[in-house]
Amino acid sequence: MTHPRKIIIDTDPGQDDAVAILLALASPDELDVLGITAVAGNVPLPLTQKNARIICELAGKPQTKVFAGCDAPIKRKLVTAEHVHGKTGLDGPQMADPVMPLQDQHAVDFIIDTLRHEAPHTVTLCPLGPLTNIAVAFQRAPDIITRVQQIVLMGGAYFEVGNITPAAEFNIYVDPEAAEIVFKSGVPLVVMPLDVTHKALTNRARVEAFRALGTEPGRMVAEWTDFFERFDMAKYGSEGAPLHDPCVIAYLLRPDLFAGRHINVEIETTSDLTLGMTVADWWGVTDRKANALFMGSVDTEGFFTLLTERIGRL
Ligand code: BDR
Ligand code: CA
Repeated sequence: MTHPRKIIIDTDPGQDDAVAILLALASPDELDVLGITAVAGNVPLPLTQKNARIICELAGKPQTKVFAGCDAPIKRKLVTAEHVHGKTGLDGPQMADPVMPLQDQHAVDFIIDTLRHEAPHTVTLCPLGPLTNIAVAFQRAPDIITRVQQIVLMGGAYFEVGNITPAAEFNIYVDPEAAEIVFKSGVPLVVMPLDVTHKALTNRARVEAFRALGTEPGRMVAEWTDFFERFDMAKYGSEGAPLHDPCVIAYLLRPDLFAGRHINVEIETTSDLTLGMTVADWWGVTDRKANALFMGSVDTEGFFTLLTERIGRL
């Protein structure tokens, strides 16, 4: 019997983060969620940590440990995305405040302690928001860096370029210094950029399939998507909304659904114009060392089949 893979989900929920967390909590045979660490991003930290607990309760897993982490990027003012996710970060359906507790420990300390305590190369980090918590943990405890099994993250873009600026994707843009630390860390990285997540697109049939599950989590996923797809439909003229963050968890469950290239990716931290850009050497035009498996495509049908089936288990 193989043991479930140990993961820490670092997140700024966000409706698409919420779907990612539900997917992970619905998959206990494959994934052991050691903790969920909240970071400031889509909305400020008091909301992201609260939203993380709302989602755990919705999944029927109130015993999940949720930690609050950094409330601002390493050296910049926080940029948020209420224009996409609404004032609460989880706008759409009405949801009650959570009753499960927030852990006392700071998320960064939890990440450090967990990596020191678990056997080397047995814990995978899954960042779904700005990389502040992970980078601060690496800065404070460099000894943990070589103990990480893998980092599978949502962030960046190459062909799709930017969503928060013409050049940068939101998660990397919010804390480019943190992203630089992570991308230079030497930890094996799997990156889900907008190039992939803009292919993980909902449409009416896919949203209705969530609703048709007839469960509370199914209904919530449908209502969240109904809410935040208005933004992408207006902006891109697309049929629905990209489910960015669930790509990270789907990769852990079904890596065969994704394809990409092992390439060098550097983060722009100085230019005003292209701050937070992921400079991805997709065409191999430099001799810079590969540091990331940078994904380019996803089997969209396979992705939604997996997602719907798993959400249906909750
Ligand atoms: C990323 O930014 C956030 O708004 C989403 O939750 C996702 O993690 C997409 O750029
Ligand atoms: Ca996110």
